[in-house]
Amino acid sequence: MTARAQIGVTGLAVMGRNLARNFARHGYTVAVHNRSYGKTQSLMEEAGDEGDFVPSESMADFVASLERPRKVVIMVKAGAATDAVIDELLPLLEDGDIVVDAGNAHFPDTIRREEALSARGLHFVGTGVSGGEEGALLGPSIMPGGTRESYESLGPILEAVSAKVDGTPCCTYVGPNGAGHFVKMVHNGIEYADMQLIAEAYDLLRAGLGASAAEIGEIFAAWNEGDLESFLIEITADVLRHVDAETGQAFVDIVLDQAEQKGTGRWTVQNGLDLGVPITGIAEATFARALSGGVPQREAGRRALPANAEPLQVADRDAFVEDVRQALYASKVVAYSQGFDQIAAASAEHGWDIDRGAMARIWRGGCIIRARFLNRITEAYERDPQLPLLLSDEYFTDAVGNGLSAWRRVVARAASAGIPAPAFSSSLAYYDGVRAERLPAALIQAQRDFFGAHTYRRTDREGTFHTLWSGDRSEQEA
Ligand code: 6PG
Repeated sequence: MTARAQIGVTGLAVMGRNLARNFARHGYTVAVHNRSYGKTQSLMEEAGDEGDFVPSESMADFVASLERPRKVVIMVKAGAATDAVIDELLPLLEDGDIVVDAGNAHFPDTIRREEALSARGLHFVGTGVSGGEEGALLGPSIMPGGTRESYESLGPILEAVSAKVDGTPCCTYVGPNGAGHFVKMVHNGIEYADMQLIAEAYDLLRAGLGASAAEIGEIFAAWNEGDLESFLIEITADVLRHVDAETGQAFVDIVLDQAEQKGTGRWTVQNGLDLGVPITGIAEATFARALSGGVPQREAGRRALPANAEPLQVADRDAFVEDVRQALYASKVVAYSQGFDQIAAASAEHGWDIDRGAMARIWRGGCIIRARFLNRITEAYERDPQLPLLLSDEYFTDAVGNGLSAWRRVVARAASAGIPAPAFSSSLAYYDGVRAERLPAALIQAQRDFFGAHTYRRTDREGTFHTLWSGDRSEQEA
């Protein structure tokens, strides 16, 4: 077996297969392997002529077909399967070889694997890959972690096959060990928030305008021409205009209204709680999926709970549509602002030194949350790399400020009409919370001190204090 392949892919389900084809189409010689040889054979039969592939039936031959330092991309279902492939690879690899996990791994697993592999002289690169099947083939957004040294030889290949926006690759070095998978996790959390916000906008428009799904689809198509331009808005327009072939009804009307998830949104929320970062938009989006899937609770609620709501009366249709658009944009900015806060907090905690502007840059193309407005985020972090709150950048204060009255109207109208808009309303509450001069957290601190002697700090002098609530109520310095 001549070692002539520049990169290898093991795991040839649709994502791995498409990534392998993408490498080959860019002129790389690609070693390919799958646990069952059938998938390797079908790749060779169907796409073998797209480039230079080196198929192998055994892992040993696959590894032997790679040039040193070997670059092996694992594209299997995240979890136990990844560990199994790593265990099989380990005895076959040598010092300096690079193992790339391109699945949606949970970042603590990536940290663990990186530690184990680096102890054996290998590089382990946990990388986020976004863009679904099509992205993998035509150019995904790629978020690699691991050592800088590994990026020197691996980076150029990944950049070559990534999506490009204005000639710039949607791939850059993210940071050590788990940083790449962490950033991909937050990407997915933001994806959940974005999708939930779009769904709430759709729901309000449909109720307010009494319009068909296809008509709402036209509104989304028009929105896609402006600041909201993004992949998710674009596909929303497509989905809403799609008709179910069997029934002739709007497709969205025949889909069961129970949203599922594979878990990356849940991880994002769990991590937000661990870090104490209020990622309320992502959390509401994740819980909204859970609520939709809570069938017994929904049945009980539907039967027992009155609405006491006022129907949405829309006098000026265009003004209402514009209000919803503004509310969507503002809430979206909040969700991104929170997600970038989470990246900053994790980066500080793990010493990853993640450049947030660069993350926004590599999300402009290829990935699910690709959007025009990511340019604005990159610009904001270029103006101030340490920006503590994305919302406070001058572009975003203006953009959100201009839509603020509309945002308040939409949230108020949704509440009086009894239409759930958890992500819209919690984003607005976050906005008002983070800009507040003073918060009722003071009362919470006082309560904590009352029942648990948990102490408090004062506004007028340094120190930590406790009041003798069950005694003479005098104050002591704690
Ligand atoms: C991507 C997507 C991709 C995916 C997730 C989310 O970036 O290409 O985020 O990773 O669609 O699996 O799916 P769930 O909604 O099932 O969690």
